[in-house]
Amino acid sequence: MLVTGKGGVGKTTVAAALGLVAARAGKRTVVCEVAEQERLAAMFGTSDIGHSELELAPGLFAVSVDPERAKEEWLGYQLRSSTLAGVLGGNRVFQYLTAAAPGLTELVTIGKVWDLAQLERRTGGSVFDLAIVDAPATGHALAILRAPQTFAAVARAGPIARQAERIDAFLHDSAATGVLVTALPEEMPVNETVDFERGLRDELQMKVDAIVVNALHPARFSAADARALDSLDGRGGPSARAALRAALSEHARARAERAQLRRLRRAVSAPVSTLPRIFEPELGRDELEQLSAELERRL
Ligand SMILES: Nc1ncnc2c1ncn2[C@@H]1O[C@H](COP(=O)(O)OP(=O)(O)OP(=O)(O)O)[C@@H](O)[C@H]1O
Ligand SMILES: [Mg+2]
Repeated sequence: MLVTGKGGVGKTTVAAALGLVAARAGKRTVVCEVAEQERLAAMFGTSDIGHSELELAPGLFAVSVDPERAKEEWLGYQLRSSTLAGVLGGNRVFQYLTAAAPGLTELVTIGKVWDLAQLERRTGGSVFDLAIVDAPATGHALAILRAPQTFAAVARAGPIARQAERIDAFLHDSAATGVLVTALPEEMPVNETVDFERGLRDELQMKVDAIVVNALHPARFSAADARALDSLDGRGGPSARAALRAALSEHARARAERAQLRRLRRAVSAPVSTLPRIFEPELGRDELEQLSAELERRL
């Protein structure tokens, strides 16, 4: 399951909450961070997550995919019996391949993730039922998803092409791979979500399985309440007026968010669910548990 979305909308948060849902359901789950973010460890209050798996909660593991390490592992596996490896040596082979075909870093990144999702692990780690990828933002996510196809086409034959084809087939198998997009109920994230769904469909013939609109503010007032508040405008002392203004502006935001949510629902084919805004400066384990309970109800 790939979790993507515009920068800062809550991809890591949603990936972690989803991981808790799956682990509670008895699935051995791994959340993979790519692009060296190391945000998960902070959320769970543990030490830094390395390239190998760390247990965050019962049945929930995390791994941070380091592209350099992934390249080395990939080479080690790929070139076990290759004469090219013998002639050039590992690093030079990689330089040679990188020069021959751009996007190799993307390929080994998705390759590592794919590897985590396989039952028969080639690199010899433990076995998972579900791999959740805290993927990069939507633009880069498309590049990563495109990499295996590009590579298979460039390499045409041989072990690299075969592996790229296997990864591509895995990504395109909707029973094996899901795509979840996270958004905020705001103009730009909504646009990016709509564009991503279209790009995924048009370029890769893949679909978005679910959209989670994160951090929706509560709608505390009905339209009638708001009219009543509005009619009080200008009355009362300064502090009453300030409270009134705050309530009205909160109401305006909640309405604007719901308008964006409606716009999103009209523009996409994937089902859209929401997660509430949590009023804490930093989300920790308890808040993630709370969001995961919400997700479980809504997904
Ligand atoms: N539902 C929520 N309520 C309140 N705060 C939230 C919520 N979801 C996420 N946040 C906070 O918003 C910030 C961004 O969240 P997160 O790191 O998950 O986003 P991201 O999409 O992974 O960002 P990046 O693109 O930088 O990787 C964090 O500080 C997180 O704690
Ligand atoms: Mg993140």
